[in-house]
Amino acid sequence: MKGFIYKGFSKLTEAEKRKLVSSLCDEPKVSELEMDALIVKDPRNRELFMDLSENTVSAYHLPFGISPNFVVNGNIYHVPMVTEESSVVAASASAARFWSERGGFVVKDLKTTKLGHVYFQWFADDKILKEAWPSLKLKLLSRLKYVTANMVQRGGGITRLDLSDDRHKTDKLFRLIVEFDTVNSMGANFINTCLEELAQGLDEGLNTDKNSEEKDCRVVMSILSNYVEECTVTVEVCCPIRNLQGITSGMTPLQFAQKVELAYQIAWNDVYRAATHNKGIMNGVDAVIIATGNDWRAVEAGAHAFASRSGQYRALSQCELVDDQLRIWLTIPLALGTVGGITNLHPLAKKSLEILGNPNAPELMCIVASAGLASNFAAVQSLVTTGIQKGHMRLHLMNIFNALGATPKQITQATEYFQGQKVSFAIIKQFIDEH
Ligand code: MEV
Repeated sequence: MKGFIYKGFSKLTEAEKRKLVSSLCDEPKVSELEMDALIVKDPRNRELFMDLSENTVSAYHLPFGISPNFVVNGNIYHVPMVTEESSVVAASASAARFWSERGGFVVKDLKTTKLGHVYFQWFADDKILKEAWPSLKLKLLSRLKYVTANMVQRGGGITRLDLSDDRHKTDKLFRLIVEFDTVNSMGANFINTCLEELAQGLDEGLNTDKNSEEKDCRVVMSILSNYVEECTVTVEVCCPIRNLQGITSGMTPLQFAQKVELAYQIAWNDVYRAATHNKGIMNGVDAVIIATGNDWRAVEAGAHAFASRSGQYRALSQCELVDDQLRIWLTIPLALGTVGGITNLHPLAKKSLEILGNPNAPELMCIVASAGLASNFAAVQSLVTTGIQKGHMRLHLMNIFNALGATPKQITQATEYFQGQKVSFAIIKQFIDEH
C-alpha cells in the first residue's frame, strides 16, 4: 500500500499541518519559502478561513473578473465572475454586450419557494397516522414558532406542511413535505433546523408511551432538498432575426438563426449534447455564484435534477423562431442568498454583491440566470459559426506560455508566428524550446 494513515491531523497547529503537507509533496520538496506563500497573509482573512472549513492550510486563489454590460430587466449590471476557465468571462461579456443593444435579458417568471422533507417509516395501521395528522400538524406548526419567529419577522417562514404517503416508493415510508420562504437568505441552516425540530415533534407526537424498540414512527432523516422546482427563474432574450447581423460569420441572419435553433433542438433531444450545452450554461452560473459566496454544489445538483424532470436529461435552455424573431430562454432552479452564509463574510463575496448594487435574492437569481444564458448563447454562437477553438486558443495560448515559463520575447514571437493557427501544447513547446 502506498502512503500512510495520519491520525490526529486536525490536532496539529497550522504550521505543523503545512510542514506535513510539504513533506507529502513529491520531489522537488516544497521549500520553506513556497510554504510561506501558502499562508493567508491578511490576519483577518486568515482567521476567517480557519473558521470556515477544517484542516485549512492555505487559501486557494482563482481569477476574479468582471463581465460588464448585462442589461437585466432594464437595469445594467457589471457582473463579477470567478472562474479558472479561459474565455468564459470574455464570451459572456460579448454576449451581454450584444443583447444589451437588443433589449437585454428579460425575466419572464420567478419563484422562490424552498423545500425540505422529513422521511419516516410508519409501522402501525396507516389510518391511525392519517387520522392523527390534522391535529398533529397544528401541534408541529406551533412547536416551530420559536424557530421561525425571526424569519417570519423578515417576511418569510413556513408556507406549507403536508404529509405524503410514499409507500409506493419505499416500504412503510411517509414524508413530511415542508415549503419555506427564506426571503434573502439561501436558508439551508434555517430549513434544516426546522426539519429536525419537526422530526422531533413527530417522534414525540406519534410514539407516546412506547419504548424505542416498538416505535410506530421511526424517523429516517430530515434534510432540505436541492431539487427546488418551485425556486426557479426564467430569463429570455429576443430580437428580430434581421438584427442578428454582425455575429453570423458569413451566413445570412436567417441561416444563422435557423442553425442556432437546430443546435438548441439537438441539445433538447440528445443527452450527450444536453450535458455539454448545460455545462456551457453552468460556466456563467457557477462563476457568479462563486463570486457572490453562494453554494454552487447545491445549484449544480438542482440544475441537473431539473434538467431530468421529464424523465430524460434535457437542455435547460430552449430556442424558437417565431414571427421573424429569435427567442432564446433559460429556466433554472436557483436557491441563492444575499445575506447569511459567507455572502457577507468572505471579503470578495461581499465586494461582489456591492459591485452588483447589493441585490436582494430574487434580483441575484435574475442576474445569475442571465449570466448562464449569456454563456450559453456565446458558446452556441461560436459552435455554429467558427467553432470554439479559435477564441478559446487565444487565451489558452497564454496558459501554455505560463506553464512553459516563456519569456516576454518568446511570447511575442510565438503569438505572431501562430496567429490564426490551431495550436497544441506540443507545438508551442517545440517553438519555445527552439527560440
Ligand atoms: C466549454 O466550457 C463549454 C462548451 O462546451 C459549451 C457548449 O458546448 O455549449 C463550449
